[in-house]
Amino acid sequence: MCGIVGCVLDKKVAPTLLESIKTLEYRGYDSVGLSTVTDKINIKKGKGKIHEVDEKLDLADLDGNTGIAHVRWATHGNPTTKNAHPHNDCKNEISIVHNGIIGNYKDLKQDLINEGHVFKSDTDTEVISHLIEKYMAKNENLLEAVQKTVKELKGSYALAVISTKEPDKIIGARNESPLIVGVSEHGNYLASDATAILKETKKVIYLDNKELIELTKDNVKIMDYDLNPLEKKIETITWTAEMAEKGGYDHFMLKEIHEEPMVIKESLSEESKIKSIVRKFKNFNRICFVACGTSYHASLVGEYLIESLIGKPTDVILASEFDYFKKTLDDHTLVIFITQSGETADTLEAIKIANEKSETLAIVNVVGSSITREADHVIYTRAGPEIGVAATKTYLSQLICIYLLVAYLSDENEELLNKLYEISELSEQLLSKEEQIREIAKNYTDVNDFFYIGRGFNYPTALEGALKLKEITYIHGEGYAAGELKHGPLALIDENIPVVGIVPPGPSRNDTYTNLKEIESRGGDIIYLGANNDPSILEKENKLLFDPRIDETLAPLLYIIDLQLLAYYISIERGIDPDKPKNLAKSVTVK
Ligand code: AGP
Ligand code: GLU
Repeated sequence: MCGIVGCVLDKKVAPTLLESIKTLEYRGYDSVGLSTVTDKINIKKGKGKIHEVDEKLDLADLDGNTGIAHVRWATHGNPTTKNAHPHNDCKNEISIVHNGIIGNYKDLKQDLINEGHVFKSDTDTEVISHLIEKYMAKNENLLEAVQKTVKELKGSYALAVISTKEPDKIIGARNESPLIVGVSEHGNYLASDATAILKETKKVIYLDNKELIELTKDNVKIMDYDLNPLEKKIETITWTAEMAEKGGYDHFMLKEIHEEPMVIKESLSEESKIKSIVRKFKNFNRICFVACGTSYHASLVGEYLIESLIGKPTDVILASEFDYFKKTLDDHTLVIFITQSGETADTLEAIKIANEKSETLAIVNVVGSSITREADHVIYTRAGPEIGVAATKTYLSQLICIYLLVAYLSDENEELLNKLYEISELSEQLLSKEEQIREIAKNYTDVNDFFYIGRGFNYPTALEGALKLKEITYIHGEGYAAGELKHGPLALIDENIPVVGIVPPGPSRNDTYTNLKEIESRGGDIIYLGANNDPSILEKENKLLFDPRIDETLAPLLYIIDLQLLAYYISIERGIDPDKPKNLAKSVTVK
């Protein structure tokens, strides 16, 4: 789940590596490290966030025109300086960075120790540098040594390797972890994703699994694992470097929430593409959504829409649980994968299983990501780069694409389409409540638990509101279907547990309101989210009001914005950095 970068340039690379790796910090922030090659391997690495390590070590102060860098999200070995990448061989002639997990590292490590190699870290990664050392000692060149090494590895990896023996090149390899190549007139780059090199170049090559890369300043060679050269297309990225910057906001998360009205419009512009994709679907009688985290919540909204508006049987399966459900797949099932990054390991594994029996559609934000090469059909959500670890604008963009999909699956549902365009206008007004939300947040900085309740289409809104809270405030938040609370959790309710009640206008409003009354009469402290013409809600003290045109079918699109802001401001009040919550990383490329 970490991020890697490498480049060979016509100048000192360390400053470029440092700037690039900063843009990948959303992928992991346990530790950071850089290494470059001159007549020796020069290395600086340390535990902590990049700015903290940089203050101590001055990371850009390394000579050499060839180098690699890493931000880590530890999987094997604690987040310490010793375990920070890059990792070298015994003689410090080879240096590598790695994203992924080497499944067979224990056996490989034991064999290497038996052969006399000395390990300095607890990571799975370090076996790679020693294996390369072993093959180079047998007179293999760097490329051949990496080729022999990757053939011994089981698991996932994106790798970049440098060596004093061949100081003008980087060898890379990719299997089940993302890696792209960037090309420019000043040199060439390898990176976990395009965000890292947006400032350097817009020309990229997307790599596939089991590909090797030899990168010099003037040349990029891509090969299969038998070293046969491969012809790859150079593509142009449309994202700009500014899109991946904070643009005057304190945090990426806040900037990304403020971009939501624009993102809704951008995603709506995919309407004609979605219409034409729907026409290509084969006959299906069941839909199955597969996703993780926030994307799972977007899928749940899809389930409610499809079941209630179209009446087609629909399931939503967590990608990490998909294996248990694969026997129900057939060629009359359409399997829809929702993923912002397109790199989530659980989701990628699931699509490979689904492809064997069913037609697959991916709804994805990152162009060229791994899932786009697996799916039969792809819809891009067009949210632009999302850097904050907590998904915000990409959730909105996923929802818009799902609503459009549902409108076309139900024979061009004009009413739903018109409502979506209306929503796009209403979203502009929502952010005007920000100060009010900030004030409300101040009352909840010291609580231990929160409940979020909603019904129908807004049960997923409750789940997503609670997930945002957990991720960035470290307060326990639980989303519940409004009617379900009385079947157990009501026992927990007292004045110390705030409850967010999502009660938009519509057929379910009265039932949900009744559930909130049950909470109120047991001393619960409720924050109401409802229409600004709902008299019972208007008389409440603690409330967030919405245009009544946002009924319960549409509320998942806009009520969530207030819940994102609520979590954001509670996080700020508690002194937490919402962009980099502890233990989490943006793109979960390990199982
Ligand atoms: C959301 O705030 C989280 N960062 C996380 O739950 C995320 O949605 C999940 O890991 C799925 O990611 P994906 O959409 O990139 O597949
Ligand atoms: N497994 C490696 C480590 O723990 C890489 C981690 C990752 O890719 O997230 O250092």
